[in-house]
Amino acid sequence: IRPTAPSASLYVASLIAARINAFSPTAERPFVLGLPTGSSPLLIYKYLVAFHREGKLSFKHVITFNMDEYIGIPRDHPQSYHTFMYTHLFSHIDILPENAHLLDPSAADLEAEAERYEAAIAAAGGIRLFLAGVGADGHIAFNEPGSSLSSRTRVKTLANDTIVDNARFFDGDVDSVPKTALTVGVGTIMDAKEVVVIATGSNKARAVRDGIEGSIGHLCTISALQMHRNAIVVVDEEATAEL
Ligand code: GLP
Repeated sequence: IRPTAPSASLYVASLIAARINAFSPTAERPFVLGLPTGSSPLLIYKYLVAFHREGKLSFKHVITFNMDEYIGIPRDHPQSYHTFMYTHLFSHIDILPENAHLLDPSAADLEAEAERYEAAIAAAGGIRLFLAGVGADGHIAFNEPGSSLSSRTRVKTLANDTIVDNARFFDGDVDSVPKTALTVGVGTIMDAKEVVVIATGSNKARAVRDGIEGSIGHLCTISALQMHRNAIVVVDEEATAEL
């Protein structure tokens, strides 16, 4: 628990930088990082970019896998997660373009695309650190309530709550929010060696309570992390209101 969203974000960014630097990645032995989008990681990305600019952190031998992507909007759409990642992180760091992996929602066969993604993660040696946010209803990536806790990458229909929640990124227009997405599964995230969740603000208080103190179950998919050997949830004071 950190007092504010900036201090919680700085804690997470420093943890990520420390993990990458301690690992001393090389081309043969890259650091594999799972990444989220949304408003929660924004400040973390700002700090990571700052560390990079200060010469404290390089992404030259870091391979990233984003956790999800909308289906039905083009890659260059302002609200695609592809655009988000380049705007807020990839364009400002020294990551090699071929090392920044995102799910491709324009693939003709989405099931094959999901399998390709799982295979690419495995080929990279598995995810060493997965950073995640949490939805107000306790979802992780786009693993909406009801998702199997052993799910792998696949197409998911978004819950109505998520569509309404994410309308803020589409000029408040619920109808423009895509209704489906490609997402890594809960099982995919559980396979990561370490998972770090960031949750800030009072609108995450219920998800934080259900995820940490509630029982493990598919109605709050972040709760699966209670069974992970190496997972932490970093929150600000406001997000602890229901604990
Ligand atoms: C979306 C994303 C999740 C994210 C969640 C919360 O549903 N798929 O990965 O955790 O939004 O978003 P925010 O951080 O904007 O609250």
